[in-house]
Amino acid sequence: MDYPSFDLTGQVAVVTGASKGIGYGIAKALANVGVKVAVTARSIEKLNTLAAEINDAGGEAVPFALDVRSVENIRTIMGQIHDHFGRIDILVNNAGLGDNHPAVDVTEADWDSMMDVNLKGLFFCAQAAGRIMLEQGYGRIINMSSQASVVGIRDHAVYCATKGGVNQLTRVLALEWSEHGVTVNAIAPTFIYTPGTAERLDNPEYLAGVLNRIPANKVGTIADVAGAVMYLASPAAGMVTGTVLLVDGGWTAQ
Ligand SMILES: NC(=O)c1ccc[n+]([C@@H]2O[C@H](COP(=O)([O-])OP(=O)(O)OC[C@H]3O[C@@H](n4cnc5c(N)ncnc54)[C@H](OP(=O)(O)O)[C@@H]3O)[C@@H](O)[C@H]2O)c1
Repeated sequence: MDYPSFDLTGQVAVVTGASKGIGYGIAKALANVGVKVAVTARSIEKLNTLAAEINDAGGEAVPFALDVRSVENIRTIMGQIHDHFGRIDILVNNAGLGDNHPAVDVTEADWDSMMDVNLKGLFFCAQAAGRIMLEQGYGRIINMSSQASVVGIRDHAVYCATKGGVNQLTRVLALEWSEHGVTVNAIAPTFIYTPGTAERLDNPEYLAGVLNRIPANKVGTIADVAGAVMYLASPAAGMVTGTVLLVDGGWTAQ
């Protein structure tokens, strides 16, 4: 029998939403195991800092400004990344917005902004990278979903709808692309402690409400999510496609 391999050395990954939070950590974790990373987001200064940190530590990272709300921008930047590295093995489709409002207060602008980034942007990034991967006959697409894709979360109507859509896109792309060597999966985390969630999770009352729903009795870390990305990107996960990997401490098991 062959032993499973988790070796990603020398592969090329694109990480969207890499300027902070989970994407920032995923880029560093991939670089730490020898993956060359194209780090993308709108905030080029933060990407420059991230790329410098990775390159100073002996890794390889190149920053690319990318606004995933523009399909034209997505196609241009994926082309530039492909030209620079010669291939794209892994796409971590992580850019996302998580505004929350009671459903009665949701505006058309709230709806459009979350749909544009979480669903439309994610789809067209997958399409642009997917075209390159299909040509190569190899690729790993990892879409960032949420536990809010499988259970309802109060005051998150639009967010839940976008993440439910991410799961369905993941399944359809897996159906179309897996026979060509391109696996497509999603990761669905529970609350992860990031700069974006710190304000809420640092409130003891809010944190208690969250922990009450998590059997593991702790919120997730960026490393928890990065570990799932590294598994799904690895040769060991070659038979895993069209799935949603919950990293939720058991929230959705009840
Ligand atoms: N944190 C959690 O508890 C949690 C739980 C489950 C799922 N998630 C999901 O995990 C992903 C990352 O979450 P996070 O907490 O790390 O969020 P975050 O700290 O708010 O970071 C979001 C990232 O998305 C980028 N982004 C936003 N709009 C963009 C646009 N138009 N074009 C390109 N990039 C854009 C931001 O970069 P710029 O502003 O520089 O463009 C930033 O790098 C999201 O998809 C989120 O839904 C998070």
